Amino acid sequence: MTKKKTKSVPINLLELEAAARARLDDNAFDYYASGAHDELTLRENRAAFERIALRYRVLVDVSRRDPSTEVLGAKVSMPVLIAPTAFHRMAHPDGERATARAAAHAGTLMINSTLSNTPMEEVVLAAGAAPVWFQLYVYKDRGETKALVERAEAAGARALVLTVDAPLLGTRERDRRNRFRLPAGLTVANMTAVGKGELPDVADSGLAAYFATMLDPSITFDDLSWLKSVTTLPLVVKGVVRADDAARCVAAGADAVVVSNHGGRQLDTSVATIRALPEVVDAIGGRAEVYVDGGVRRGTDVLKALAYGARAVLLGRPVLYGLALDGQRGVERALSILREELDLAMALAGCPDVAAITRDLLADGPSEPASGQRR
Ligand code: GLV
Repeated sequence: MTKKKTKSVPINLLELEAAARARLDDNAFDYYASGAHDELTLRENRAAFERIALRYRVLVDVSRRDPSTEVLGAKVSMPVLIAPTAFHRMAHPDGERATARAAAHAGTLMINSTLSNTPMEEVVLAAGAAPVWFQLYVYKDRGETKALVERAEAAGARALVLTVDAPLLGTRERDRRNRFRLPAGLTVANMTAVGKGELPDVADSGLAAYFATMLDPSITFDDLSWLKSVTTLPLVVKGVVRADDAARCVAAGADAVVVSNHGGRQLDTSVATIRALPEVVDAIGGRAEVYVDGGVRRGTDVLKALAYGARAVLLGRPVLYGLALDGQRGVERALSILREELDLAMALAGCPDVAAITRDLLADGPSEPASGQRR
């Protein structure tokens, strides 16, 4: 009789999610995992990657491979950055500090959310020499928003990442059912000093109520100029899925855009990000950097995103799942799984470095490489 196998460690990011699910309570897991309404975009982000076929190259010397790149002038060991996600201390007591340390250990960078359970100053400190970018939500009180930006700059954050796809919070029905709230002792730590550290206790998602009361749904392209006027930090605009919006962001001074639909958590049935990516890359034409997030779970997904012209991808939920499993080491594990998969994908596709990852690798893309397009 064969012995039943003991539960093994997750070997891919999908297994990591399943393992984290078993660790977290519903309030936390559902908050991290859920998408808006029917979760169609959540699934489609992933499915759209799966539908893309690769035209790999052969007889290329791939005995040495280098996945490193630069984002806004910062060298990173691979084209995978940590996406801004909220409330890391629901996953592990070390929270955002552990995530920052893991990013530094992996030679990449973390984007720290406004909705962090740890003050941004402590997160930047935990990252050591590794860069931290600060994700910004614009509060109705512009003085408070400006103060957040100034704090980020003073703390040593190296870029601002303005999220633009969430004038209101999308409806995550699992959160409504759970009446999502922060566990006792956890706050929106960046905002406690101004009395905005707590989520309202409502018969719905506490975060949806927080957005509706605190955050500013009236921001427009003009506010990008306002933001540029109050900071010297580079500006990244996150949440764009259209060529015209991307071009306007760049015209208004954005140094980079993130093609993102907020992990399928905002407008359900919105276009999958990997489908939206090429039109954004083409519209920007190298005038700003382009990153993409949403559904990245495999090394081949990173390869496909770069082939369409993204400079890097952002990884969100798997980082939280790694954190839930084993704190800093769990996040390191998530990043190293993706790094190993990307390394193999590059080898098998005939790409010794990121410059070799061009559009002609995509079966459905144009047959000529879009050389020089990546920004
Ligand atoms: C916050 O940004 C969220 O998506 O819950």
